[in-house]
Amino acid sequence: MLRYLFLIANLLVVLHAESGADAWLRHAPLDEASARQYRSSLPAAVATYTATPVAQSAQRELLRGIRGMLGRTLRIQSGLPAESAILLGTLSDLKQAAPQLRLEAALPLDGYWLTTASAGGVSYTVITAANDRGVLYGVFGFLRKIALGEPVAALHEKQSPYAPVRWVNEWNNLDGSIERGYGGRSIFWDKLQAREDLSRVGEYGRLLASLGISACSINNVNANPRVLAADFIPQVVRIAEAFRPWGVRVALAVDFGSPKTLGGLDTFDPLDAKVASWWKDLVDALYTAVPDLAGFVLKADSEGRVGPSTYGRTHADAANVVARALAPHGGLLFYRGFVYDHHADWTNPKNDRGRAAYDNFQPLDGKFDDNVIVQIKHGPIDFQVREPASPLFGALEKTNQAVELQITQEYFGQSRHSVFLVPMWKEVLDFDMHARQGATPVKALVAGKTFRRPTGGFVGVSNVGLDENWYGNHLSQANLYGFGRLAWDPDLSAQRISDEWTKLTFGSDPKTVETINSIQLTSWRTYENYTGPLGLQTLTDIVGNHYGVSVEASERNGWGQWHNADDKGAGMERTVAKGTGYTGQYRPIVAKVYESLESCPDELLLFLHHVPYTYKLHSGKTVIQHLYDAHYEGADTVEGYIRQWKSLKGRIDDRRYNDVLAQLTYQAGQAQVWRDAVNNWFLRASGIPDAKGRVGRHPGRFEAESMKLEGYTVRDVTPWEAASGGKAVACPVAKCSAGLRYEGAAGWYTINVRYFDQIDGVSRFRLLVGGQLIDEWTAADRLPTRRIDSSSSARRVVPGIALRPGDEIRIEGMRDGGETAALDYIEILPEGK
Ligand code: GCU
Repeated sequence: MLRYLFLIANLLVVLHAESGADAWLRHAPLDEASARQYRSSLPAAVATYTATPVAQSAQRELLRGIRGMLGRTLRIQSGLPAESAILLGTLSDLKQAAPQLRLEAALPLDGYWLTTASAGGVSYTVITAANDRGVLYGVFGFLRKIALGEPVAALHEKQSPYAPVRWVNEWNNLDGSIERGYGGRSIFWDKLQAREDLSRVGEYGRLLASLGISACSINNVNANPRVLAADFIPQVVRIAEAFRPWGVRVALAVDFGSPKTLGGLDTFDPLDAKVASWWKDLVDALYTAVPDLAGFVLKADSEGRVGPSTYGRTHADAANVVARALAPHGGLLFYRGFVYDHHADWTNPKNDRGRAAYDNFQPLDGKFDDNVIVQIKHGPIDFQVREPASPLFGALEKTNQAVELQITQEYFGQSRHSVFLVPMWKEVLDFDMHARQGATPVKALVAGKTFRRPTGGFVGVSNVGLDENWYGNHLSQANLYGFGRLAWDPDLSAQRISDEWTKLTFGSDPKTVETINSIQLTSWRTYENYTGPLGLQTLTDIVGNHYGVSVEASERNGWGQWHNADDKGAGMERTVAKGTGYTGQYRPIVAKVYESLESCPDELLLFLHHVPYTYKLHSGKTVIQHLYDAHYEGADTVEGYIRQWKSLKGRIDDRRYNDVLAQLTYQAGQAQVWRDAVNNWFLRASGIPDAKGRVGRHPGRFEAESMKLEGYTVRDVTPWEAASGGKAVACPVAKCSAGLRYEGAAGWYTINVRYFDQIDGVSRFRLLVGGQLIDEWTAADRLPTRRIDSSSSARRVVPGIALRPGDEIRIEGMRDGGETAALDYIEILPEGK
């Protein structure tokens, strides 16, 4: 009976609603068997020998973790306890306080040492490091082991970060909005000031510290010069204070025109002495207020930002003038390699945005000061669903570099699609650039190992928001976790990272872990399949919200994200022999693989070559058939995710279960929109039918424009592929209806209603069969558009309906605000299909 009661109590603990705010740091109670083991082996006391706020955070976190997971509160002691205890502190403090432990080790900054030592017959668990941040990281590492069920008795483990730079960037505007953020408003800013309540900043600092991330830039790279104003410094100070106990240092994104716009000089020429001393004075003042400021991030001469080109100066001139102001304080200057011409002439086949980073920066190799880091996006374009590693990584030998990975899912379905990015990042980080003899993977190049650079590493564009779960989607948190783990140790496998994250976030139930791992680890390939396979890049609205599908949005404009799909074939010819010469930017071994059609990997084919639709891939399929198949496969796989997720009911708390179920259900509907749009577009362009007869044929689908309409009027949708049949119906008056007479066989059916849910209203819908109200719903989702297009396309699934020939099926739409209760089609599918 007791045992039974205990089980129930345990289940209640596990299944209470969780908001996701604690992410992977829930410190949830362990199952009884493992808890018992740890309880019997762990000491009952803790003593901390370093007095800094960061070391105090370490002790507090240790207490919190042990209490949460094991239900035990450690006794806080001072001096060297006479009983077995956990000892925390920097190595120098520990050696001084307890020389009898004879602790000796060479530890790099931020690395930690978990060890066991004894004195006077008492054995101690020691968590130590060269600096207090390392001690904190050690505590997180120790707690993670317990949460994962790994042994912690008789520990002897040293961990050191792979790279010195492990930063995140937050593209937050001072008004509280976030550029490409999908988890609510800024945790830092509101109405041009630091937010009054900065508690989320502290919580975020805790998440970052648990991964070993040590700095965070807190404003948009498209920087408001105001961030450097003298009277603004107190705002920055407050945010730095909120982060400081977690060892996270603040950095700022700066505007290169500031000497003029903010400083009132008549120039921002980097070679002008006035400009140099303006930067110096400004930085000195900033460091007086924020002595541990980590540095600046600078986006110059890019997407309309001013830069050195105004004065005919180089990027090195620009970087160095700011870096020299930071250098005396130990600050770093991250100069963004994301520089390209966004007014490129698309009629010139030699133009290629992919070349830009290399063309701009390779000639400057060796010209940057030692505290400058060139921050390079992982691919040559812009976080597309598939890109090769940027050739610039292999081309800088005398310049520090960092890889910029995007955690926020700008081109990856934003917070509405689950896409685990670690497998993609791993491919890039492990990619051998052949920059010299021996292995030279991207990870080693950016960490400065290959060419022995003083610094370098990993930067993640994170963009968390005030949403309880940070990103607007629980599963998206795995990307921040994965980024941090890879920045610490890029040799960890994607499987290992997913496994850790899942166990920490949802618990160790094997079925739960297996199911979530399987969704996460296939999700990138799945998303690629329905949004842009074969290196086409994400076929989204690139001049708009970067969310819905719009195959031609990237063509015939200056932004250079071209894929050149026309009626004969598709792909950007980037070869040396016939194209833009991009492949020649790689070292010869890599260039050779990419240059030739024979050796080019299928998944990058259309990124590097232009081929006819009938071209045969290594798989034996034609390009066109692969496009069709991939889109069906992608959409079907997401439907499968729903089934997989449903098998977890009762195994995780209801709140997160329901949130993710709703997210995956939406994603599955959206994957169909992508599938149909892309496939219909390529069918029309190529004129080549789908060998499997699916594309353009949708048994059971009834277009709204062909239904009997009352009040609704037919509208052309732009681009045409965004709606089935290129048309939708919209309600110009208060209430409209669309109906049809069902003439199929009697039976049980699911009715899918495809409608449009814009951001500027909450319209209502009712579904009636034979006059009986079957379902009603509101279009109240948060989707990024005011238009009737693929971004607003939404799906209502109504299962379990008995239909008989002659039944009238009718949808009523009640418009609201700018939203016109628009409909695309209904689908009547026999149950189980
Ligand atoms: C992308 C993104 C912009 C951002 C830019 C950058 O183009 O859409 O919002 O400013 O990258 O990285 O600077």
